[in-house]
Amino acid sequence: MSEEFELDWLDLREPHDAAARSEALAEALIARLPARPRLMDLGAGTGSLFRWLAPRIGRAQAWTLVDQNREMTEAAFDTIADRAEQVGLKVTFPNRRTLLVHAPGGAWRVEALIADLAHAPDNLPLQNADAVVCSALCDLVSAPWLARMAAAIRVPFYAGLNVDGRDRFLPPVPGDALVARGFARDQGRDKGFGGRALGAKAAAEIARAFGAQGYQVQAAASDWVLRGGPATSLLSELVFGHAEAAIAQDFRHAAQISAWRERRLQQGSLGRLQARIGHRDVLALPPEAGWPAAAPVPARAAMAPALPRRRR
Ligand SMILES: C[S@@+](CC[C@H](N)C(=O)[O-])C[C@H]1O[C@@H](n2cnc3c(N)ncnc32)[C@H](O)[C@@H]1O
Repeated sequence: MSEEFELDWLDLREPHDAAARSEALAEALIARLPARPRLMDLGAGTGSLFRWLAPRIGRAQAWTLVDQNREMTEAAFDTIADRAEQVGLKVTFPNRRTLLVHAPGGAWRVEALIADLAHAPDNLPLQNADAVVCSALCDLVSAPWLARMAAAIRVPFYAGLNVDGRDRFLPPVPGDALVARGFARDQGRDKGFGGRALGAKAAAEIARAFGAQGYQVQAAASDWVLRGGPATSLLSELVFGHAEAAIAQDFRHAAQISAWRERRLQQGSLGRLQARIGHRDVLALPPEAGWPAAAPVPARAAMAPALPRRRR
């Protein structure tokens, strides 16, 4: 059974993801891309990684957003178009499947591929990619899936925002350890990628799988640091999500976990709840020999910050 994600959840996390992502790792990736890079974004959702990374690449580029959920990719096209237009960039649709953002350094071409990644890499046109990227995906996949991908990919592999288990809600309250234990167990549930999900082991497993193929792997922390104000809604969702997952794994302690949830929600409503959610960004680079020289990086055209999405 594959995992379903809500559009609203991806909207809520996008600004916090953007603040957390490692600039250094993105720069290291960009330095290894050719003049007009083609990127394949696995589990692209509503295109959050594109909106963050494309302006940093700056020059002409082509993206394939891969997801099993058609609604997600339609939302990705709408959101990319809206945010680009909000900062004055022209957007055109040369055909039903392609969106072009006309940025000063060259056009950003976006296409979608609806595919079940459980069958990857066999159903992916990897030969057309200069980099394979993903975000908030590798903690869902299994070790055998990752090993298959590492054996098939011959280009840089970037995986942003892998959970690493260093979650902490503050100030401490009774039930923290109970909820953390149940939540961690739930992260290992099979998410449809042929085995237990990697959860907090994702970054280490990426390093192992790609390291075994001769890649150089680097990682950087990309934690969410959440304190009241603009983080209030995300904090509430995290409390609900942690409690629900913990109860699913430990029904005997449902009453204690529910009490933890109510206490945390009350702290949230009073502006007294904080959280650090541990993530790691990982970049795996193949040996450099024969790689095309990187093009100079033109002036950056930023995308607009998160705003409500235009509905079709
Ligand atoms: C946590 S979301 C991350 C979305 C996006 N990368 C981001 O950072 O906002 C995981 C995404 O993977 C997609 N996904 C999960 N399982 C999948 C599968 N088996 N095949 C294709 N896409 C899948 C979901 O539809 C969802 O869009």
